[in-house]
Amino acid sequence: MSDSKPTAFITFSDCDQRIELPLLEGSLGPRCIDIRQLGSQGYFSFDPGFLSTASCHSDITYIDGDLGLLYYRGYPIEQLAESADFLEVAYLLRHGELPIESERTGFDSVIRHHTMIHDQMNYFFRAFRRDAHPIAVMVSAVGALSAFYQDSAEVTDPLQREISMDRLLAKIPTIAAWSYKYNRGEPFIYPQNRLSYAANFLHMLHATPCEPYEPNPVAVRALDRIFILHADHEQNASTSTVRTAGSSYANPFACVAAGIASLWGPLHGGANEAVLRMLEEIGDVSRIGEFIQRAKDKSSGFRLMGFGHRIYKNMDPRAAIMRRTCHEVLDELGLHDDPLFKIALKLEEIALEDEYFIKKKLYPNVDFYSGIVLRALGIPTSMFTAIFALARTAGWTAQWNEMVSAKDHKITRPRQIYTGSPRRDFVPGEQRRSRRK
Ligand code: ACO
Repeated sequence: MSDSKPTAFITFSDCDQRIELPLLEGSLGPRCIDIRQLGSQGYFSFDPGFLSTASCHSDITYIDGDLGLLYYRGYPIEQLAESADFLEVAYLLRHGELPIESERTGFDSVIRHHTMIHDQMNYFFRAFRRDAHPIAVMVSAVGALSAFYQDSAEVTDPLQREISMDRLLAKIPTIAAWSYKYNRGEPFIYPQNRLSYAANFLHMLHATPCEPYEPNPVAVRALDRIFILHADHEQNASTSTVRTAGSSYANPFACVAAGIASLWGPLHGGANEAVLRMLEEIGDVSRIGEFIQRAKDKSSGFRLMGFGHRIYKNMDPRAAIMRRTCHEVLDELGLHDDPLFKIALKLEEIALEDEYFIKKKLYPNVDFYSGIVLRALGIPTSMFTAIFALARTAGWTAQWNEMVSAKDHKITRPRQIYTGSPRRDFVPGEQRRSRRK
């Protein structure tokens, strides 16, 4: 390599070969070794779970897991959670800048006026079993949008991408709320364009045709903050799923449905639901020790839900905001004696002093407290992951748009270390020997 730019070398202990690799630098964060030429030299890199692999360039979100920092487009999450609303944040994630007033009102109006879903979707919902989990319904309903909105599916057209992203962001609260209403056996409540994004969602979730319902402003603000905290998180499992699905220029609605499917797992977005179930199972502060012991015993297969994070090896900054929000909401709603919150606070205190959790750098993550806040807002446990999916739609769509419009766009196609049988010849059925010993 000719110029003085820093490079890295790979040398081999069993031959003289030496490979020089360029180094790449972002605006923040660690340097990256550019290994793209390794394949042509007869080597692959091995990194299951992508612990040390950057899969893309991205201008959207920055995380420093050691320092506990999270920025959306350079803005610290604490400032956005304090001063912005969710639609401003969604605009920021997508367009890279906070909206000026005319952009903010324009975007707000577009999202408010795309909240209805095609009336035919009614029948689609009604085909599910009543006891279906809301996320099971959401995965299908969001995927089904691809059949209802075919006029914005041309991925290479920036205008159509914009329309699809608006539709997804606007309709996902309606889909989430209806998934729940169907499960409850209650009539679907149509969106109200006079209401804000979070208020509209609460209305569709809690209202019935029988009596008026006005969302509580404390609940609206807290929910909006939960949406902001969950709006994006760099290249996590579900976002990487959306990017991978979209890398083939697949339909955007189908890509977001794939993201929801990935989010559903208890190691990812399903964790806030699992936290609440765990706190209920603990039931009393006196039983915390027993659960901590179980979490430390590998053979138990039990993990303390809401603890640990692939990236944060310090306090998750979202967890700190969520803990404060939890205090505020419980105080406002007169629920400060909430027994689960007491268990959560004590559990956090004990775990943070425990050698096992300190050594493994296991801190509470955002999901540790979000479940308690959602429960205080009257949101059923089965809807927790749905709310996460709703909020993350802002990030998924921004990341998808960035990916498909990137100049160096490539379909995602990892390689593998093949560990199966070497070449062998087909054996006719009657000549096959039993493999049973
Ligand atoms: N309780 C007890 N031990 C834990 C926990 C936990 N919650 N999390 C990790 N560990 C231990 C593991 O047993 C492992 O121990 P070892 O090194 O002795 O084998 C070590 O800590 C590292 O764990 P990994 O699973 O390798 O860490 P990874 O970074 O792959 O996983 C994850 C992160 C999945 C979040 C994990 O910490 C976990 O399962 N936490 C509980 C589920 C949860 O809260 N998920 C929400 C994530 S946040 C989000 O999606 C918004």
